[in-house]
Amino acid sequence: MDKIIISGGNPLYGNVSISGMKNAALPVICACILNKETCIIDNIPPISDIETLLMILSSMGADVKMLTKNSVQINCRNIIPGSSPNELASKLRGSSYILGAELGRFGKSSVYSPGGCSIGPRPLDLHMKAFEALGAHCSHRNGRIEITTDSYLKGNSIFFDKVSVGATVNTILASVLADGVTIIDNAAREPHIVDLAVFLNACGANIIGAGTSVIKIKGVSKLHGCRYSIIPDMIEAGTYMAAVAATGGKVTVRNVIPKHLEAISIKLEEAGVNIITGSDYITVESTGKLKGISLTTGPYPGFATDMQPQFSAMLCFAEGASDIHEQVFDNRFQYTDELAKMGADIKVSANHSIIRGGSPMTGAPLVCRDLRAGAAMVIAALASEGTSELLEIDKIERGYYKITEKFASLGADIKLVSDISSAQINRSASI
Ligand code: EPZ
Repeated sequence: MDKIIISGGNPLYGNVSISGMKNAALPVICACILNKETCIIDNIPPISDIETLLMILSSMGADVKMLTKNSVQINCRNIIPGSSPNELASKLRGSSYILGAELGRFGKSSVYSPGGCSIGPRPLDLHMKAFEALGAHCSHRNGRIEITTDSYLKGNSIFFDKVSVGATVNTILASVLADGVTIIDNAAREPHIVDLAVFLNACGANIIGAGTSVIKIKGVSKLHGCRYSIIPDMIEAGTYMAAVAATGGKVTVRNVIPKHLEAISIKLEEAGVNIITGSDYITVESTGKLKGISLTTGPYPGFATDMQPQFSAMLCFAEGASDIHEQVFDNRFQYTDELAKMGADIKVSANHSIIRGGSPMTGAPLVCRDLRAGAAMVIAALASEGTSELLEIDKIERGYYKITEKFASLGADIKLVSDISSAQINRSASI
Protein backbone atom coordinates (compact mmCIF):
# COMPACT_ATOMS: atom_id res chain seq x y z
CA MET A 1 0.00 0.00 0.00
CA ASP A 2 1.19 3.53 -0.76
CA LYS A 3 1.86 5.93 2.10
CA ILE A 4 2.28 9.66 2.54
CA ILE A 5 5.25 10.75 4.64
CA ILE A 6 5.13 14.26 6.07
CA SER A 7 7.79 16.08 8.10
CA GLY A 8 5.83 18.88 9.69
CA GLY A 9 6.66 22.38 10.76
CA ASN A 10 7.07 24.22 7.42
CA PRO A 11 4.87 27.28 6.86
CA LEU A 12 3.10 27.24 3.47
CA TYR A 13 3.55 29.92 0.79
CA GLY A 14 2.48 30.34 -2.83
CA ASN A 15 -0.50 29.54 -5.04
CA VAL A 16 -2.63 26.45 -5.35
CA SER A 17 -5.19 25.77 -8.07
CA ILE A 18 -8.40 23.99 -7.09
CA SER A 19 -9.82 21.12 -9.16
CA GLY A 20 -13.42 20.52 -10.19
CA MET A 21 -15.81 19.43 -7.47
CA LYS A 22 -16.17 15.69 -6.86
CA ASN A 23 -19.68 15.99 -5.43
CA ALA A 24 -20.85 18.02 -8.45
CA ALA A 25 -19.13 15.84 -11.07
CA LEU A 26 -20.72 12.62 -9.72
CA PRO A 27 -24.37 13.68 -10.27
CA VAL A 28 -23.58 15.47 -13.56
CA ILE A 29 -21.92 12.32 -14.96
CA CYS A 30 -24.90 10.19 -13.84
CA ALA A 31 -27.27 12.74 -15.41
CA CYS A 32 -25.75 11.84 -18.80
CA ILE A 33 -27.69 8.54 -18.51
CA LEU A 34 -30.88 10.58 -19.11
CA ASN A 35 -29.51 11.80 -22.44
CA LYS A 36 -29.27 9.90 -25.75
CA GLU A 37 -27.00 12.57 -27.19
CA THR A 38 -23.32 13.27 -26.46
CA CYS A 39 -22.21 15.47 -23.57
CA ILE A 40 -18.71 16.78 -22.90
CA ILE A 41 -17.96 17.49 -19.27
CA ASP A 42 -14.97 19.72 -18.54
CA ASN A 43 -13.12 20.42 -15.28
CA ILE A 44 -13.75 16.94 -13.90
CA PRO A 45 -11.27 16.05 -11.15
CA PRO A 46 -9.14 13.00 -12.15
CA ILE A 47 -9.70 11.27 -8.79
CA SER A 48 -10.54 7.66 -8.07
CA ASP A 49 -14.28 8.14 -7.31
CA ILE A 50 -14.76 9.74 -10.74
CA GLU A 51 -12.68 7.03 -12.46
CA THR A 52 -14.81 4.36 -10.77
CA LEU A 53 -18.06 6.02 -11.85
CA LEU A 54 -16.85 6.34 -15.46
CA MET A 55 -15.87 2.65 -15.39
CA ILE A 56 -19.40 1.81 -14.22
CA LEU A 57 -20.96 3.79 -17.11
CA SER A 58 -18.60 2.16 -19.63
CA SER A 59 -19.40 -1.31 -18.38
CA MET A 60 -23.14 -0.49 -18.76
CA GLY A 61 -22.63 0.24 -22.46
CA ALA A 62 -21.96 3.99 -22.45
CA ASP A 63 -19.37 5.37 -24.84
CA VAL A 64 -16.91 7.14 -22.51
CA LYS A 65 -13.83 8.89 -23.94
CA MET A 66 -11.32 10.94 -21.95
CA LEU A 67 -10.49 13.95 -24.18
CA THR A 68 -7.94 15.30 -21.68
CA LYS A 69 -7.32 14.37 -18.05
CA ASN A 70 -10.06 16.89 -17.07
CA SER A 71 -12.55 16.48 -19.94
CA VAL A 72 -14.70 13.49 -20.71
CA GLN A 73 -17.08 12.81 -23.59
CA ILE A 74 -20.04 10.61 -22.68
CA ASN A 75 -22.76 9.09 -24.86
CA CYS A 76 -25.33 6.93 -23.07
CA ARG A 77 -27.57 6.07 -26.06
CA ASN A 78 -26.85 2.33 -25.77
CA ILE A 79 -26.67 2.03 -22.01
CA ILE A 80 -28.37 -1.05 -20.54
CA PRO A 81 -30.41 -0.27 -17.40
CA GLY A 82 -29.77 -2.46 -14.39
CA SER A 83 -26.33 -3.55 -15.63
CA SER A 84 -24.07 -1.60 -13.22
CA PRO A 85 -21.56 -4.05 -11.68
CA ASN A 86 -21.98 -4.76 -7.95
CA GLU A 87 -18.30 -4.53 -7.13
CA LEU A 88 -17.82 -1.06 -8.64
CA ALA A 89 -21.15 0.37 -7.38
CA SER A 90 -20.29 -0.69 -3.83
CA LYS A 91 -17.14 1.46 -3.92
CA LEU A 92 -18.82 4.87 -3.85
CA ARG A 93 -21.91 6.70 -2.67
CA GLY A 94 -22.31 8.50 -5.99
CA SER A 95 -23.42 5.22 -7.63
CA SER A 96 -26.80 5.79 -5.93
CA TYR A 97 -27.44 8.51 -8.54
CA ILE A 98 -27.67 5.79 -11.20
CA LEU A 99 -31.00 4.89 -9.55
CA GLY A 100 -32.63 8.25 -10.28
CA ALA A 101 -31.11 8.55 -13.76
CA GLU A 102 -32.05 5.01 -14.89
CA LEU A 103 -35.52 5.42 -13.43
CA GLY A 104 -35.97 8.76 -15.22
CA ARG A 105 -34.90 7.40 -18.61
CA PHE A 106 -36.14 3.79 -18.55
CA GLY A 107 -38.83 3.69 -15.84
CA LYS A 108 -36.82 1.04 -13.98
CA SER A 109 -33.50 0.66 -12.23
CA SER A 110 -31.36 -1.78 -10.31
CA VAL A 111 -28.13 -0.81 -8.52
CA TYR A 112 -26.11 -2.60 -5.84
CA SER A 113 -26.26 -0.87 -2.43
CA PRO A 114 -23.89 2.11 -2.75
CA GLY A 115 -20.72 2.43 -0.69
CA GLY A 116 -18.95 5.62 0.37
CA CYS A 117 -17.29 6.92 3.51
CA SER A 118 -18.13 5.20 6.77
CA ILE A 119 -19.32 8.25 8.75
CA GLY A 120 -22.54 6.95 10.30
CA PRO A 121 -25.79 5.48 8.98
CA ARG A 122 -26.49 6.54 5.40
CA PRO A 123 -30.03 5.33 4.64
CA LEU A 124 -31.79 5.89 1.29
CA ASP A 125 -35.32 6.12 2.71
CA LEU A 126 -35.83 9.70 1.49
CA HIS A 127 -34.70 8.72 -2.04
CA MET A 128 -37.20 5.83 -2.02
CA LYS A 129 -39.97 8.06 -0.66
CA ALA A 130 -39.44 10.45 -3.57
CA PHE A 131 -39.30 7.66 -6.20
CA GLU A 132 -42.55 6.22 -4.80
CA ALA A 133 -44.21 9.67 -4.87
CA LEU A 134 -43.40 9.74 -8.61
CA GLY A 135 -45.13 6.38 -9.07
CA ALA A 136 -42.29 3.85 -8.66
CA HIS A 137 -42.05 0.71 -6.49
CA CYS A 138 -38.83 0.06 -4.58
CA SER A 139 -37.53 -3.23 -3.19
CA HIS A 140 -34.27 -5.04 -2.41
CA ARG A 141 -33.05 -8.25 -4.02
CA ASN A 142 -29.65 -9.95 -3.63
CA GLY A 143 -28.10 -6.76 -2.28
CA ARG A 144 -29.43 -4.68 -5.18
CA ILE A 145 -32.01 -1.91 -4.93
CA GLU A 146 -34.70 -2.65 -7.52
CA ILE A 147 -37.07 0.03 -8.78
CA THR A 148 -39.95 -0.51 -11.17
CA THR A 149 -42.98 1.40 -12.44
CA ASP A 150 -46.36 0.12 -13.65
CA SER A 151 -46.69 2.70 -16.41
CA TYR A 152 -44.74 5.97 -16.38
CA LEU A 153 -43.43 8.46 -13.83
CA LYS A 154 -45.73 11.33 -12.98
CA GLY A 155 -44.64 14.60 -11.33
CA ASN A 156 -45.71 15.15 -7.72
CA SER A 157 -45.04 17.36 -4.69
CA ILE A 158 -42.41 15.95 -2.37
CA PHE A 159 -41.50 17.22 1.08
CA PHE A 160 -38.28 15.99 2.69
CA ASP A 161 -38.34 15.75 6.51
CA LYS A 162 -34.57 16.15 6.46
CA VAL A 163 -32.34 18.07 4.06
CA SER A 164 -30.51 15.50 1.92
CA VAL A 165 -28.09 16.20 -0.91
CA GLY A 166 -28.43 12.70 -2.34
CA ALA A 167 -32.24 12.54 -2.16
CA THR A 168 -32.50 15.99 -3.81
CA VAL A 169 -30.16 14.88 -6.63
CA ASN A 170 -32.02 11.62 -7.19
CA THR A 171 -35.43 13.33 -7.24
CA ILE A 172 -34.23 15.84 -9.82
CA LEU A 173 -32.80 13.04 -11.97
CA ALA A 174 -35.97 10.95 -11.76
CA SER A 175 -38.32 13.82 -12.55
CA VAL A 176 -36.56 15.64 -15.42
CA LEU A 177 -38.27 13.43 -18.05
CA ALA A 178 -41.40 12.62 -15.97
CA ASP A 179 -44.87 13.64 -17.02
CA GLY A 180 -45.92 16.94 -15.38
CA VAL A 181 -44.46 19.06 -12.59
CA THR A 182 -42.45 17.91 -9.57
CA ILE A 183 -41.93 20.21 -6.61
CA ILE A 184 -39.26 19.37 -4.04
CA ASP A 185 -39.80 21.13 -0.73
CA ASN A 186 -37.00 21.34 1.87
CA ALA A 187 -34.48 20.57 -0.89
CA ALA A 188 -30.73 20.72 -0.33
CA ARG A 189 -29.24 24.08 -1.42
CA GLU A 190 -25.62 23.03 -1.97
CA PRO A 191 -23.73 24.54 -4.94
CA HIS A 192 -23.54 21.05 -6.47
CA ILE A 193 -27.37 20.91 -6.61
CA VAL A 194 -27.27 24.17 -8.56
CA ASP A 195 -24.51 22.78 -10.81
CA LEU A 196 -26.61 19.71 -11.64
CA ALA A 197 -29.67 21.86 -12.45
CA VAL A 198 -27.64 24.26 -14.62
CA PHE A 199 -26.15 21.30 -16.52
CA LEU A 200 -29.55 19.65 -17.04
CA ASN A 201 -31.11 22.96 -18.15
CA ALA A 202 -28.25 23.35 -20.65
CA CYS A 203 -29.38 19.95 -22.01
CA GLY A 204 -32.99 21.18 -22.36
CA ALA A 205 -34.48 20.39 -18.91
CA ASN A 206 -36.83 22.82 -17.16
CA ILE A 207 -35.67 23.21 -13.55
CA ILE A 208 -36.15 26.35 -11.49
CA GLY A 209 -35.33 27.19 -7.88
CA ALA A 210 -32.11 25.14 -7.48
CA GLY A 211 -30.11 26.80 -4.71
CA THR A 212 -33.31 27.54 -2.75
CA SER A 213 -35.25 25.08 -0.62
CA VAL A 214 -38.04 24.73 -3.19
CA ILE A 215 -37.13 23.27 -6.58
CA LYS A 216 -39.65 22.99 -9.41
CA ILE A 217 -39.04 20.55 -12.27
CA LYS A 218 -41.33 20.61 -15.30
CA GLY A 219 -40.87 17.35 -17.18
CA VAL A 220 -39.59 17.54 -20.78
CA SER A 221 -39.79 14.83 -23.43
CA LYS A 222 -36.07 14.58 -24.15
CA LEU A 223 -32.65 16.11 -23.54
CA HIS A 224 -29.98 17.14 -26.02
CA GLY A 225 -26.19 17.09 -25.77
CA CYS A 226 -24.12 19.96 -24.43
CA ARG A 227 -20.64 20.91 -23.21
CA TYR A 228 -20.42 21.83 -19.54
CA SER A 229 -17.74 22.76 -17.01
CA ILE A 230 -17.96 21.56 -13.38
CA ILE A 231 -17.70 24.14 -10.56
CA PRO A 232 -14.54 24.26 -8.38
CA ASP A 233 -14.39 22.06 -5.30
CA MET A 234 -15.13 24.18 -2.24
CA ILE A 235 -14.11 21.36 0.10
CA GLU A 236 -10.71 20.94 -1.57
CA ALA A 237 -10.28 24.74 -1.35
CA GLY A 238 -11.35 24.78 2.30
CA THR A 239 -8.87 22.00 3.07
CA TYR A 240 -5.93 24.09 1.76
CA MET A 241 -7.26 27.14 3.63
CA ALA A 242 -7.41 25.24 6.94
CA ALA A 243 -3.92 23.81 6.32
CA VAL A 244 -2.38 27.30 5.85
CA ALA A 245 -4.21 28.51 8.95
CA ALA A 246 -2.64 25.68 10.98
CA THR A 247 0.93 25.85 9.61
CA GLY A 248 1.14 29.63 9.20
CA GLY A 249 2.15 31.28 5.92
CA LYS A 250 0.38 32.95 3.02
CA VAL A 251 -1.30 31.05 0.19
CA THR A 252 -3.63 32.13 -2.60
CA VAL A 253 -6.22 29.48 -3.37
CA ARG A 254 -7.09 29.98 -7.04
CA ASN A 255 -9.97 28.92 -9.30
CA VAL A 256 -12.63 29.10 -6.58
CA ILE A 257 -16.08 30.65 -6.20
CA PRO A 258 -15.54 32.71 -3.00
CA LYS A 259 -19.31 32.80 -2.28
CA HIS A 260 -19.22 29.01 -1.74
CA LEU A 261 -16.45 29.49 0.83
CA GLU A 262 -18.17 32.10 3.00
CA ALA A 263 -18.87 29.89 6.03
CA ILE A 264 -15.29 28.57 5.95
CA SER A 265 -13.78 32.06 5.55
CA ILE A 266 -15.88 33.49 8.41
CA LYS A 267 -14.81 30.71 10.78
CA LEU A 268 -11.15 31.13 9.82
CA GLU A 269 -11.38 34.87 10.51
CA GLU A 270 -12.94 34.10 13.88
CA ALA A 271 -9.91 31.88 14.61
CA GLY A 272 -7.56 34.80 13.85
CA VAL A 273 -6.72 34.18 10.17
CA ASN A 274 -6.54 37.01 7.63
CA ILE A 275 -8.69 36.37 4.54
CA ILE A 276 -8.52 38.45 1.35
CA THR A 277 -11.25 37.66 -1.16
CA GLY A 278 -10.91 38.28 -4.91
CA SER A 279 -13.18 37.48 -7.84
CA ASP A 280 -11.99 33.87 -8.26
CA TYR A 281 -9.38 33.49 -5.52
CA ILE A 282 -8.96 33.73 -1.76
CA THR A 283 -5.67 34.59 -0.08
CA VAL A 284 -5.20 33.09 3.38
CA GLU A 285 -2.59 34.61 5.66
CA SER A 286 -1.85 33.12 9.06
CA THR A 287 0.75 33.66 11.75
CA GLY A 288 -0.03 30.13 12.94
CA LYS A 289 -1.28 31.61 16.25
CA LEU A 290 -4.96 30.70 16.31
CA LYS A 291 -7.81 31.09 18.82
CA GLY A 292 -10.29 28.35 19.71
CA ILE A 293 -13.78 28.71 18.17
CA SER A 294 -17.19 27.00 18.21
CA LEU A 295 -18.68 25.51 15.12
CA THR A 296 -21.78 23.56 14.18
CA THR A 297 -22.10 21.67 10.92
CA GLY A 298 -25.24 21.89 8.81
CA PRO A 299 -26.54 21.81 5.25
CA TYR A 300 -25.41 24.63 2.93
CA PRO A 301 -25.16 27.58 3.51
CA GLY A 302 -24.19 26.25 6.96
CA PHE A 303 -20.71 25.01 7.80
CA ALA A 304 -20.08 21.87 5.70
CA THR A 305 -19.75 18.56 7.55
CA ASP A 306 -17.11 17.71 4.91
CA MET A 307 -14.86 20.41 6.47
CA GLN A 308 -15.39 19.39 10.11
CA PRO A 309 -12.43 16.95 10.42
CA GLN A 310 -10.00 19.40 8.74
CA PHE A 311 -11.09 22.24 11.07
CA SER A 312 -10.76 19.96 14.10
CA ALA A 313 -7.18 19.14 13.07
CA MET A 314 -6.46 22.86 12.62
CA LEU A 315 -8.01 23.74 16.00
CA CYS A 316 -5.63 21.35 17.79
CA PHE A 317 -3.07 24.14 17.20
CA ALA A 318 -5.32 26.96 18.52
CA GLU A 319 -4.95 28.44 22.00
CA GLY A 320 -7.97 27.72 24.21
CA ALA A 321 -10.99 25.50 23.83
CA SER A 322 -12.97 24.78 20.66
CA ASP A 323 -16.46 23.30 20.58
CA ILE A 324 -17.49 21.21 17.57
CA HIS A 325 -21.08 20.07 17.02
CA GLU A 326 -21.55 17.56 14.19
CA GLN A 327 -25.20 17.69 13.15
CA VAL A 328 -25.23 15.90 9.80
CA PHE A 329 -23.60 12.49 10.35
CA ASP A 330 -23.65 10.31 13.48
CA ASN A 331 -20.12 8.96 13.37
CA ARG A 332 -17.81 11.62 12.03
CA PHE A 333 -15.33 11.82 14.90
CA GLN A 334 -13.48 8.53 14.26
CA TYR A 335 -10.34 10.42 13.26
CA THR A 336 -9.97 11.95 16.76
CA ASP A 337 -8.23 8.77 18.03
CA GLU A 338 -5.52 9.37 15.42
CA LEU A 339 -5.11 13.03 16.46
CA ALA A 340 -4.83 11.86 20.10
CA LYS A 341 -1.81 9.73 19.05
CA MET A 342 -0.10 13.00 18.08
CA GLY A 343 -0.80 14.56 21.48
CA ALA A 344 -4.14 16.29 20.79
CA ASP A 345 -6.49 16.83 23.71
CA ILE A 346 -9.95 16.03 22.28
CA LYS A 347 -12.96 14.75 24.23
CA VAL A 348 -15.81 13.35 22.16
CA SER A 349 -19.28 12.78 23.51
CA ALA A 350 -21.92 11.65 20.99
CA ASN A 351 -21.98 14.30 18.23
CA HIS A 352 -19.98 16.89 20.12
CA SER A 353 -16.27 17.34 20.72
CA ILE A 354 -14.21 19.69 22.83
CA ILE A 355 -10.66 20.39 21.69
CA ARG A 356 -8.23 21.97 24.12
CA GLY A 357 -5.63 23.21 21.71
CA GLY A 358 -2.12 24.41 22.02
CA SER A 359 -0.46 21.34 23.56
CA PRO A 360 2.58 20.13 21.58
CA MET A 361 1.71 17.79 18.70
CA THR A 362 4.28 15.39 17.28
CA GLY A 363 4.32 13.18 14.21
CA ALA A 364 2.98 9.60 14.42
CA PRO A 365 1.82 6.71 12.21
CA LEU A 366 -1.73 7.74 11.24
CA VAL A 367 -4.56 5.80 9.65
CA CYS A 368 -6.86 7.66 7.24
CA ARG A 369 -10.30 6.45 8.39
CA ASP A 370 -12.23 8.12 5.55
CA LEU A 371 -11.75 10.77 2.87
CA ARG A 372 -12.03 13.95 4.96
CA ALA A 373 -10.48 12.26 8.01
CA GLY A 374 -7.48 11.61 5.74
CA ALA A 375 -7.35 15.31 4.81
CA ALA A 376 -7.42 16.11 8.54
CA MET A 377 -4.43 13.80 9.07
CA VAL A 378 -2.50 15.68 6.36
CA ILE A 379 -3.21 19.03 8.07
CA ALA A 380 -2.28 17.74 11.54
CA ALA A 381 0.94 16.23 10.20
CA LEU A 382 1.91 19.39 8.28
CA ALA A 383 1.56 21.56 11.40
CA SER A 384 3.16 19.13 13.92
CA GLU A 385 6.82 18.68 14.79
CA GLY A 386 8.46 15.51 13.51
CA THR A 387 7.51 12.93 10.91
CA SER A 388 4.14 11.28 10.31
CA GLU A 389 3.40 8.27 8.14
CA LEU A 390 -0.14 8.25 6.71
CA LEU A 391 -1.64 4.86 5.90
CA GLU A 392 -4.75 3.89 3.87
CA ILE A 393 -4.25 6.94 1.66
CA ASP A 394 -6.49 5.47 -1.05
CA LYS A 395 -9.29 7.11 0.99
CA ILE A 396 -7.69 10.54 0.37
CA GLU A 397 -7.19 9.77 -3.33
CA ARG A 398 -10.95 9.28 -3.70
CA GLY A 399 -11.43 13.04 -3.41
CA TYR A 400 -8.16 14.99 -3.71
CA TYR A 401 -6.21 15.30 -6.95
CA LYS A 402 -2.41 15.26 -6.46
CA ILE A 403 -2.59 16.35 -2.84
CA THR A 404 1.10 15.61 -2.19
CA GLU A 405 2.29 17.58 -5.25
CA LYS A 406 0.02 20.52 -4.41
CA PHE A 407 1.24 20.75 -0.79
CA ALA A 408 4.87 20.19 -1.85
CA SER A 409 4.58 23.13 -4.27
CA LEU A 410 3.61 25.30 -1.26
CA GLY A 411 6.79 24.31 0.60
CA ALA A 412 5.56 21.33 2.60
CA ASP A 413 7.93 18.42 3.22
CA ILE A 414 5.53 15.75 1.95
CA LYS A 415 6.03 12.76 -0.28
CA LEU A 416 4.08 9.86 -1.67
CA VAL A 417 5.90 6.59 -1.13
CA SER A 418 5.04 3.35 -2.89
CA ASP A 419 5.45 0.38 -0.60
CA ILE A 420 7.99 -1.45 -2.78
CA SER A 421 8.44 -4.31 -0.35
CA SER A 422 4.76 -5.29 -0.43
CA ALA A 423 4.66 -4.74 -4.21
CA GLN A 424 7.60 -7.14 -4.53
CA ILE A 425 5.97 -9.73 -2.28
CA ASN A 426 2.75 -9.54 -4.33
CA ARG A 427 4.70 -9.87 -7.57
CA SER A 428 6.68 -12.90 -6.45
CA ALA A 429 3.51 -14.49 -5.05
CA SER A 430 1.83 -14.21 -8.45
CA ILE A 431 4.76 -15.64 -10.47
C1 EPZ B 1 -23.46 13.93 0.27
O1 EPZ B 1 -23.74 12.68 0.88
C2 EPZ B 1 -21.97 13.95 -0.02
N1 EPZ B 1 -21.66 12.85 -0.91
C3 EPZ B 1 -21.20 13.85 1.27
O2 EPZ B 1 -19.82 14.01 0.95
C4 EPZ B 1 -21.61 14.99 2.21
O3 EPZ B 1 -21.00 14.79 3.47
C5 EPZ B 1 -23.12 14.98 2.41
O4 EPZ B 1 -23.80 15.02 1.12
C6 EPZ B 1 -23.63 16.17 3.22
O5 EPZ B 1 -23.22 17.36 2.62
C7 EPZ B 1 -21.81 13.01 -2.21
O6 EPZ B 1 -22.19 14.07 -2.69
C8 EPZ B 1 -21.44 11.88 -3.08
P1 EPZ B 1 -27.13 13.53 2.68
P2 EPZ B 1 -25.24 12.19 1.04
O7 EPZ B 1 -28.15 12.69 2.02
O8 EPZ B 1 -26.02 12.63 -0.13
C9 EPZ B 1 -29.59 11.58 6.30
C10 EPZ B 1 -17.51 13.67 1.17
O9 EPZ B 1 -16.66 13.67 2.10
N2 EPZ B 1 -30.38 10.86 5.27
O10 EPZ B 1 -27.18 15.00 2.46
O11 EPZ B 1 -25.18 10.76 1.36
C11 EPZ B 1 -28.13 11.11 6.38
O12 EPZ B 1 -28.02 9.96 7.18
C12 EPZ B 1 -18.85 13.04 1.36
O13 EPZ B 1 -17.27 14.11 0.03
C13 EPZ B 1 -31.47 10.12 5.67
O14 EPZ B 1 -31.80 10.03 6.86
O15 EPZ B 1 -25.68 13.01 2.32
C14 EPZ B 1 -27.46 12.32 6.96
O16 EPZ B 1 -27.64 12.33 8.35
C15 EPZ B 1 -19.04 12.27 2.59
N3 EPZ B 1 -32.17 9.45 4.70
C16 EPZ B 1 -28.25 13.50 6.35
O17 EPZ B 1 -29.50 12.93 5.91
C17 EPZ B 1 -31.85 9.53 3.38
O18 EPZ B 1 -32.56 8.92 2.55
C18 EPZ B 1 -27.59 14.19 5.18
O19 EPZ B 1 -27.17 13.21 4.23
C19 EPZ B 1 -30.74 10.29 3.00
C20 EPZ B 1 -30.01 10.96 3.96
